[in-house]
Amino acid sequence: MLEAISLTKTYPPRMGLSMPWRRPAPVVAVRAASLCVAPGEVLGIIGQSGSGKSTLGRMLVGLEKPSSGRIMIGGEDVADLLRRDRMAFYRRIQMVFQDPYGSINPQHGVFETVTRPLLYQRERDTKVLQARAKDALERVGLRPAARYLETHPHRLSGGQRQRLCIARAMILEPRYLVADEPISMLDVSIKWDIIRLLKRLVTEEGLALIYITHDLATVRSLCHRVMIMRAGEIVEEGPVDAVLDAPRHEYTRALIAACPSGVPEVAA
Ligand SMILES: Nc1ncnc2c1ncn2[C@@H]1O[C@H](COP(=O)(O)OP(=O)(O)OP(=O)(O)O)[C@@H](O)[C@H]1O
Ligand SMILES: [Mg+2]
Repeated sequence: MLEAISLTKTYPPRMGLSMPWRRPAPVVAVRAASLCVAPGEVLGIIGQSGSGKSTLGRMLVGLEKPSSGRIMIGGEDVADLLRRDRMAFYRRIQMVFQDPYGSINPQHGVFETVTRPLLYQRERDTKVLQARAKDALERVGLRPAARYLETHPHRLSGGQRQRLCIARAMILEPRYLVADEPISMLDVSIKWDIIRLLKRLVTEEGLALIYITHDLATVRSLCHRVMIMRAGEIVEEGPVDAVLDAPRHEYTRALIAACPSGVPEVAA
């Protein structure tokens, strides 16, 4: 289980020139956020831009250090685990980002891209790297893997690039995945393919997924539970249908009213 207990992240104040006599306040990006997610479960996080979703996600995967609070992964304190064995931590949790163009090094081919996490784990056996790369690509639907292994990411479409990013995240067989708006830069025609892929990884491989998005239709189709964030705080949390159909908080109602939520048939 992945558990966050009262996470807060504060950034130093932005220094403005307009009123230099005023001491600017620090930015509280996330305030006392708690959550938990278990294997085979999908937790959605929604909230308007700047509400702290990505900051929370980055803290969960160790890219950002919480100002206060604790994260536990499989019963271990993440701060201790990071100090003791950073590589073991990254074998448990990985992240997929919004931009499948910006998150791939343009100098790397598909093989180098997908095997990068294994190289960080000091795997040097070419046979092992080849086999794991092939397996990871096939699991995300890049088949036949041999064809993709020879090519360069710039030849891939946006959807194929995002699959490659998911393969790279999954190559270490993590139990937890944070996906931060993984479909928001993709064409609508392929976003459901990516959602179906994520769903399969959850149901067939028992992955625990934290899915950050603005897209309510995909939340309904993919998530078991959902959390609503506003200005760094979690204002509402519960089973996905309960929260979306009968929101308790005024902010959730406004958010739902502002988001497209029709679920097309292809989502089934
Ligand atoms: N490195 C940083 N330094 C200073 N402030 C930051 C930093 N990263 C984020 N913030 C601030 O923290 C707040 C939350 O940002 P965050 O990116 O987590 O929001 P978000 O919910 O992911 O938004 P979006 O939906 O646009 O991606 C914002 O006010 C943002 O300006
Ligand atoms: Mg964000």
